[in-house]
Amino acid sequence: MKILVTGGAGYIGSHTCVALIQAGFTPVIADNFSNSHPLAISRIEAITGTRPESHNCDIADPDAMREILQSHKFAAAIHFAGVKAVGRSVSEPLETYRENVAGSLSLLQSLKAGGITRLIFSSSATVYGGAEQMPIPENAQVQPTNPYGHSKAMVEQILQDLAAAEPDWGIGVLRYFNPVGAHKSGEIGEDPQGIPDNLFPYVSQVAVGRREKLQVFGDDYETPDGTGVRDYIHVMDLAEGHVAALKTCLQSDGLFAVNLGTGQGSSVLEIIKAFEATSGRSVPYEITDRRPGDVGTSYADPAKAREMIGFEAKRDLTQMCRDAWNWQQRNPTGYSNQ
Ligand code: UFG
Repeated sequence: MKILVTGGAGYIGSHTCVALIQAGFTPVIADNFSNSHPLAISRIEAITGTRPESHNCDIADPDAMREILQSHKFAAAIHFAGVKAVGRSVSEPLETYRENVAGSLSLLQSLKAGGITRLIFSSSATVYGGAEQMPIPENAQVQPTNPYGHSKAMVEQILQDLAAAEPDWGIGVLRYFNPVGAHKSGEIGEDPQGIPDNLFPYVSQVAVGRREKLQVFGDDYETPDGTGVRDYIHVMDLAEGHVAALKTCLQSDGLFAVNLGTGQGSSVLEIIKAFEATSGRSVPYEITDRRPGDVGTSYADPAKAREMIGFEAKRDLTQMCRDAWNWQQRNPTGYSNQ
């Protein structure tokens, strides 16, 4: 069964391609490599023994998409392609909306024209904004606090309206918490450009000696040790969550939205300790001011994903740190210069 995977060379996309191949699906990648590397495709092949077909194209290019869609018989699409930098979304909102909202809209029109009505969409827990209820259930209010979050919420709205108007669509919206780690082989992993925005890649780069020390953004939150608490989920669990959601969406019409998280929160200091224990390296840090826009605590209620798609995260924090560290050591500068 062929599955179109937009953004399939990216961090979550590449791990999902591995999970798809291992589950017997045939992913076909459409990626413009704006925040991903073609080497990821060879690495997927190194892990699975299968090289996914890939196309260097933009989801917003209807001619390119038509060509791909006409030359295959796809059962469904998984849509990852988009931008995810929160900071840039604040400074360049039009770019974020163009890539994420206009890009998705154009892709949906291409899919519809090509007769594909099964879709998994890559959303984010960021749509919940500063939710008050913990753990966060899917029926918590959608109230994003930045343009990136709004762009995800807008596409979710478009998909809800589409599913309501055209009952032959089957759509799964996946709200990710904090994906971290890498495939256990160390062949694929997260390869942020420039200074990492996110905690895990930053900690890895400090441990490997690429950066001097971590800045811990605030220790005065209402959490057990005062630092921010998040629901970190191993990227291979997340990838397997996509396969579970895909199987559900292939069999049922309408739209469902589920959280993908573990239901467990960990603080920044706990992550530092776990990473130090796994890597045997020290991770020097200093406490600085809070990062604007951050919330104190965010973790998922994973019950609906369990009931609806039969998904439960299996890998623990030690595995997340071990696999992130293995990837970092094998690829100290990511995919470049290799
Ligand atoms: N943190 C630090 N130092 C750093 C980076 C992060 O202390 O250098 C802290 C943050 O303050 C937060 C925690 O580590 O408490 C996690 O921060 P991340 O940036 O790794 O993740 P966020 O939870 O802020 O962001 C993630 C995704 C976003 C998404 C957001 C909300 O990266 O795309 O979740 O769902 F918008």
